[in-house]
Amino acid sequence: MPLFFLFHMFANPNYSLQMEFIDSHTHLYLPQFDNDRDEVISRAMDNNVSRMLLPNIDAGTIDDIIKLSGKYPGICYPMTGLHPTSVNSEFEDQLQAVKDSLSQNNFIAIGEIGIDLYWDKTFFREQEKAFREQINIAVREDLPVVIHSRESIDAIIEIIDDENPEGLKGVFHSFTGTAEQAKKIVERGFYIGTGGIMTFKNSGLDSVIKDIDIEKILLETDSPYLAPVPKRGKRNESSYLRHIADKLANIKGLTVKEVAEITTYNCINLFNLE
Ligand code: NI
Repeated sequence: MPLFFLFHMFANPNYSLQMEFIDSHTHLYLPQFDNDRDEVISRAMDNNVSRMLLPNIDAGTIDDIIKLSGKYPGICYPMTGLHPTSVNSEFEDQLQAVKDSLSQNNFIAIGEIGIDLYWDKTFFREQEKAFREQINIAVREDLPVVIHSRESIDAIIEIIDDENPEGLKGVFHSFTGTAEQAKKIVERGFYIGTGGIMTFKNSGLDSVIKDIDIEKILLETDSPYLAPVPKRGKRNESSYLRHIADKLANIKGLTVKEVAEITTYNCINLFNLE
């Protein structure tokens, strides 16, 4: 590296060449990004978000994820799995599509999977069945899981304890639970995904997140949903991860660079990225 370049780095405290973030959860393949997906990715890179992990929704989105991650190798990473809000009485067919996809690609995780009791409780039993089956698939495939746990954290912990598949690891994404629930999650070796909700004034998450070991925290946008303050209400995108990192740095009393280093390391570690 030329000397003047080094000088430039030290002279400018905002110089962020070596800072790297990973958006551990973005639905960048959805139609909300059809008109400007490439620009969204380059804006993310300009804001030091150098990698974006893509959780699947159902059989209808697997091809879009494979296509996008194929176009951006080393930047966009594919997952496969059946999202709980896509589980209905015919979930077996959907699950079959997920299983079939496993041989077609190098997926980094099974996700997102879980239980959602917020939108609709009609298919709770089916959601539970799909979740049980998918955590066992993950262990067989030696992949981590990305868990959606909206109003269902206790139910999910109960299922994990009941199945107790050896070597299961993963993240509870978009965590909005209590300190007690966070403790149970971390005790079981799982990570906690934090995103835009943490920046909302009345989320009450500050005090909960403050007590979670940062070595167990991942950053995520969940874009296009849940844009952080000051972008709240807008379409979310990976470049906004910076606002989430700022908030976490503030809660933890760390620099943004430290938050970048630790959360990126956590993410690489969980998803076995190079
Ligand atoms: Ni999601």
